[in-house]
Amino acid sequence: MIQFILNNTNLSTALPAGMTLLDFIRYERQLVGTKIGCREGDCGACIILVGQIKNGEIEYHSATSCLMPLGNAHGKHIVTVEGINFPGLSPVQQAMSDEGATQCGFCTPGFVVSLTGFCMQKRNKDVVSAIDGNICRCTGYKSIERATMNIVDLLKDRNENDVIEFAVRKKIIPEYFSSIKKRLTELSLKVNGSGEIDGANSSMFVGGGTDLYVQKHEEMTHSKSQYLSDVPALNSIREEDGQCILGGSVTVTDLIESPLIRKIFPHFLKYSKLVSSTPIRNMATLGGNFVNASPIGDYTVFFLALNAGIRLRDGKKTREIPLRNFYKGYKTLDKLDKEYIEEIYFSLPDDSTLFNFEKVSKRTNLDIASVNSAIKISVKAEKIIIAEISAGGVGPVPMYLKKASEFLTDKNLSEENIDLACSVAGEEISPISDARGAATYKRFLLQQLIKAHFITLFPAMRPEKFQSAYEEY
Ligand code: FES
Ligand code: FES
Repeated sequence: MIQFILNNTNLSTALPAGMTLLDFIRYERQLVGTKIGCREGDCGACIILVGQIKNGEIEYHSATSCLMPLGNAHGKHIVTVEGINFPGLSPVQQAMSDEGATQCGFCTPGFVVSLTGFCMQKRNKDVVSAIDGNICRCTGYKSIERATMNIVDLLKDRNENDVIEFAVRKKIIPEYFSSIKKRLTELSLKVNGSGEIDGANSSMFVGGGTDLYVQKHEEMTHSKSQYLSDVPALNSIREEDGQCILGGSVTVTDLIESPLIRKIFPHFLKYSKLVSSTPIRNMATLGGNFVNASPIGDYTVFFLALNAGIRLRDGKKTREIPLRNFYKGYKTLDKLDKEYIEEIYFSLPDDSTLFNFEKVSKRTNLDIASVNSAIKISVKAEKIIIAEISAGGVGPVPMYLKKASEFLTDKNLSEENIDLACSVAGEEISPISDARGAATYKRFLLQQLIKAHFITLFPAMRPEKFQSAYEEY
């Protein structure tokens, strides 16, 4: 049985854990304020809030219910737009109305839910990013932006340690939210099992489901899957013996919010803003990104440059392999069906090591990369001690650019050497022409991204001294 709290109701259901939460909400509970738009996580019409206890506190994040398996609602508080309604308008709904931020109204429940979620978070400072997963086709975003500013005004007197009670007092959320922490704690005690993962009786492991449910949501409904998102052992981020160790089910938002990750990568939030949207980042797991094996998986490329290792587990057996050896061919992995990624680890960089991530896509945000690239580099006295470059979109698998990286190691840091490394990189890739660009264009992009790494990390480098890759092509 799957047990959770839906708005103000504790419920349990024996329906298939693989069905989408969206279908459950609309067709089993007739809560039709949650809309069906794209069913691919892009439009935000189906956004709900997911509340769970973390470190003794209740935290709410937005999620696209069209990509969320019912099984991932187990033990949580799920909030639809009906769950934040009052007899009159809430201040969030009032702000949307005052600023003319709604027209046909189809997108409006999604915006209202995302913005209400913003009012319930202590760390989120950027209100516009709270709605970066919501699309409106008819109102125009300026009026929505004005509404968000009114909402920020509402929050100016709040104490960050009391965000839920503040939202209740201001009638942003109904009074029943005050009892949810206690109810959820009681529910967790009841539903949390041994935490053991039973791969033997499952056909598939599912993390956040953000890609699987785009590709095959019908098939997923009846799959006998094991849901890894909430397995405590897979959710930690820690430092140990000079390594950073991440559980396989850590989400992108967990990474963004981790003080350790922010210390290692001061620009991690900037890189992450190039990847999907807030509700997807709240759901998508790192292990899922690796196993998805997309040739342009943004975080796969990121961790390839770090020379990360992965620990795979099958019951009591574990084995470790470098991420660089995980990809054997297009969507082919060095992984048995019953293995899942338990941990991802990489060495903590020293003070002389720099890191950068670049991505080009048709749109800056919310888009799949045409080409992406990451670099980890250590330079002392103008000499490159070691360089490790990775790239996506330039071959059948996400690639570590071994030859270009080896070429740069022990070389002087000069525009000429970087030009030569770009040529070496061009020889080890095999891009194809597809919807995201012609093969020639992708070759050009990769060379530009490699140069962008150096211009970003070493501002003294002079872009005009690079050979023009454009002329070459
Ligand atoms: Fe569009 Fe879910 S229906 S994001
Ligand atoms: Fe019509 Fe937003 S008001 S889609």
